[in-house]
Amino acid sequence: MPDSNLHVVILAAGMGKRMRSALPKVLQPVGGRPMLAHVVATARALEPAAIHVVYGHGGEQVRAAMADAPLSWVHQREQRGTGHAVRTAMPEIPESARVLVLYGDTPLVTSASLVALLDHPDDQFAVMTTRPADPAGYGRIVRDDEGFLARIVEEKDAAADERAIDEINTGILVAPAGPLGRYLSGLDDDNAQGELYLTDVVGMAAADDRKVIAHIVADADEASGANDRWQLAALERAFQLREAAGLAAAGATLIDPSRLDVRGEVEVGPEVVIDVNVVLEGRVTLAEGVQLGAGAVVRDCRLGPRTIVHPYSVLEDVQTEGDCDIGPFARLRTGTVLAAHTRIGNFVETKKTSLGEGSKANHLAYLGDATIGARVNVGAGTITCNYDGVNKHPTTIGDDAFIGSDSQLVAPVNIGAGATLGAGTTLVTDAPAGQLTISRARQSTIDGWERPKKRQ
Ligand code: UD1
Ligand code: CA
Repeated sequence: MPDSNLHVVILAAGMGKRMRSALPKVLQPVGGRPMLAHVVATARALEPAAIHVVYGHGGEQVRAAMADAPLSWVHQREQRGTGHAVRTAMPEIPESARVLVLYGDTPLVTSASLVALLDHPDDQFAVMTTRPADPAGYGRIVRDDEGFLARIVEEKDAAADERAIDEINTGILVAPAGPLGRYLSGLDDDNAQGELYLTDVVGMAAADDRKVIAHIVADADEASGANDRWQLAALERAFQLREAAGLAAAGATLIDPSRLDVRGEVEVGPEVVIDVNVVLEGRVTLAEGVQLGAGAVVRDCRLGPRTIVHPYSVLEDVQTEGDCDIGPFARLRTGTVLAAHTRIGNFVETKKTSLGEGSKANHLAYLGDATIGARVNVGAGTITCNYDGVNKHPTTIGDDAFIGSDSQLVAPVNIGAGATLGAGTTLVTDAPAGQLTISRARQSTIDGWERPKKRQ
């Protein structure tokens, strides 16, 4: 349901020095997408009135990376702290609105957790907190006697007893815009980092007799931010485990959930089996009973029921109907379409090529720009010579044709239905249907020929 009173502010201006990267921190990928894209997608699920992104470092790059999302961009010229960042966005937000603050470098927060956070009364401040295994580096949650939030103390400003607190600030909070704006205007930078801390508004609200809610989430991964590449790697693993759990819940068998990488949107049918070290990218649909062998890389594919991909095959933009058998070591490139019961064996490369029902290319072939009928056998070593150095040309092969091993099909060329090509044929003109076509020097044996001998 749209929430017309809700304004989301995503903080994304930090440069992320500790990443040691030319890429702005919020564009560092998790699961193949910029961290910021995850946060925006999560925010979008709440259907807010607007999503304001506070950007600064690498601004143009950040805006360009998110160009397809309708966002309100707020430029924070100088990065003076999280409080200053939110303050920069406040002129865009009506007094009566509710403000939800998210962080561009905290991509694992779920919309379900945000919905629960937003479930508190509109006029209340609520901060999302958690208890991670290691609270080091995070702001600590100081509660009052009634359990409400008294203040948040940054680790760098914390006394020893405060550092011992294991409940931390995720950074995510919701607040009524009017009071939030007033507290933000009153912030100072009298702290260890010389910054305007967003966290200080909590202490100000509490001092104003507001009951600030500390809303605990159980899964500490949701609060994990990435400040350096080691933390980014940890986020990636947490993200991947979540993706794996989703696939398992949808009915896939994962041989080892910790050795699968999903970098896109994957849909699986029942009885799908995914072996170790598989990488799924882009939009991938695996129908019932699909099996992916070890090390398979599958990008933007729709694989039909019971398609088997044997180990170390790479598929990009491939569609299969049912019961296809691919690999091991096959490379299927853009525009490959396999009808039911086709077989593509080892060291076969295809591109913009379709194979009809029951056709086979079992070993060592290159099939490019080819339209191949049903029940065709493509012998080992066959290649389509589809490129003349300037243009690409098509090859068509009729149903039931048999292409002898090591043939070169010099495109454009057509092979009729039921035609047979002798092994080693270099086909430069069309091969008629139902006949044997062969281009081969006649074999001869030289009588009395002797092998050369080594000179003394
Ligand atoms: C902040 C919180 C800390 C919390 C932690 C959770 C403050 C003062 N501290 O610390 O309590 O435990 O997040 O991860 O809020 N940013 C801007 N403009 C700025 C400064 C930061 O847009 O001027 C953005 C950054 O790009 C980042 C986010 O705000 O996305 C958080 O900033 P960061 O410096 O990483 O804060 P932490 O020190 O991690
Ligand atoms: Ca951070």
